[in-house]
Amino acid sequence: MSEEVFRSPKKRGRFAVFLSGRGSNFMAIHKAVQAGGIDADIGLVFSNKREAPGYLYAQEHGLETLYLYYKKFDSREAYDARLAEEINKRDIDLIVLAGYMRIITAPFCHEFKNRIINIHPALLPAFPGLHVQQQAIDWGVRFSGATVHFVTAEVDMGPIILQAAVPVHQDDTEDTLAARILKEEHQIYPEAVKLFFDGRLEVRDRRVFILPEDT
Ligand code: GRF
Repeated sequence: MSEEVFRSPKKRGRFAVFLSGRGSNFMAIHKAVQAGGIDADIGLVFSNKREAPGYLYAQEHGLETLYLYYKKFDSREAYDARLAEEINKRDIDLIVLAGYMRIITAPFCHEFKNRIINIHPALLPAFPGLHVQQQAIDWGVRFSGATVHFVTAEVDMGPIILQAAVPVHQDDTEDTLAARILKEEHQIYPEAVKLFFDGRLEVRDRRVFILPEDT
């Protein structure tokens, strides 16, 4: 069986951010863009929650924003089809999920294959899903961390781009562990977006290879 290979484009690009809440990862990425550390612009900040702090931050910073109210759509598929139209209108190369709490439908995942990334607060494939910091504590693992991965229709299971590990302490609570992990998230998520637009991510089946600079 022949291997399927995708390489991220090396060009100045545009990305969209999808979020539902606090938006600290989005803010870390926005700061990296402003500092010139990422060769791309933020073309859209989309939220399914109009009152999300991350969404308000985007409005305050003059970024283009979009909110879609789920009750105006008959199904998840219809919601995501409209969202796909909005993305396609805007010449977006990459969709960055940053605390986006809606499940993305399979047709949307397929339409934007290799063009959606997510961050998850555990070392995947351990602890997919929600409340994963508490799950890591309850399981008794000595290390947890953060994972940036491409998004596929199977939730939290796409090809892994970057990971960062942190120790789990015996007196950790969900909050102390989450804070330790979040600090790492704010490092590796901007780095992953940078690698994408530097044309340095190559996906071969389910492995992601980070190419050397200037290849
Ligand atoms: C982060 O822990 C991220 O890993 C998970 O959702 C949280 C979002 O936090 N997917 P924030 O909104 O970026 O502050």
